[in-house]
Amino acid sequence: DLPSRHTRRNSTERPVRRLPKVLIIGAKKAGTRALLEFLRIHPNVAGSGPEPHFFDRNYHRGLDWYRNLMPKTFHDQLTIEKTPAYFVESAVPRRVFDLDPNMKLLLMVRDPVTRAISDYCQAASKHPVRPFEQMAMLNESQGVVNSKWSAIRIGVYDRHLYHWLQVFPFEQIHIVDGQMLVDQPAAEVALVEKFLGIPSFINDSHFRLRSFKGAFPCLVREDGSIHCLDRKSKGRKHPRVRPNVLRYLRDYYRPHNERFFRMVGRTFDWNG
Ligand code: A3P
Repeated sequence: DLPSRHTRRNSTERPVRRLPKVLIIGAKKAGTRALLEFLRIHPNVAGSGPEPHFFDRNYHRGLDWYRNLMPKTFHDQLTIEKTPAYFVESAVPRRVFDLDPNMKLLLMVRDPVTRAISDYCQAASKHPVRPFEQMAMLNESQGVVNSKWSAIRIGVYDRHLYHWLQVFPFEQIHIVDGQMLVDQPAAEVALVEKFLGIPSFINDSHFRLRSFKGAFPCLVREDGSIHCLDRKSKGRKHPRVRPNVLRYLRDYYRPHNERFFRMVGRTFDWNG
């Protein structure tokens, strides 16, 4: 189950399944699948397919179970898995540290308001939901945000990151800008390559815009074929949200965003 370029290696080494050295910990709907798919074209990276949810809901299954989900790799390849739920579960950082205190963590972020709408669209695709405005607000006329709703709660990045920074030094966490991954994928992935300490490999020639995917970049594979993320589940059309609700949400997130910016030492264009 290894890509052809690995079987061509001039080596007698046999690939084996290894525990990950890198985790994409979240945030949900920030572009985590795109990041993993992009990194997987790197010869020194191997990624697990489905989300293992090991450190949150499958922890009791043990390390052999976890390792078995990982692809077979050579010694010079980094195994990466992504489970966006890790970011928001406060028990997870300690468990990750106990397994590997040197784990490298990739945290993708996206404007929390857009992220919430994206999350809502995902829920709406699975089961009937009330309009976004009704879900997001406890009292719309008084501007009271439904902060307990998971679509809102996940975007309170400062609170979640706090738990990680109680356990890991910031140097082990690399922030990936979800918007940049759409606008300039090669540049954003190059920063990840640098953080992971792997040779720079992924460049502009690996990406192509396809008209049916709107503004989203698709991957150009080794054989020249073009691979776009699933059209039904990524790059969904977002509903138009009433401007007053957008304003309330921006007001709600602003102090959290400001705190997050201070924590990570950079700013993002999210405050409207
Ligand atoms: P939308 O469907 O709201 O546009 P995740 O993989 O973490 O669930 O994130 C899904 C989001 O990835 C999509 O949200 C989309 O905006 C974003 N994305 C980033 N790069 C993409 C790409 N190349 N193709 C499709 N979606 C991409």
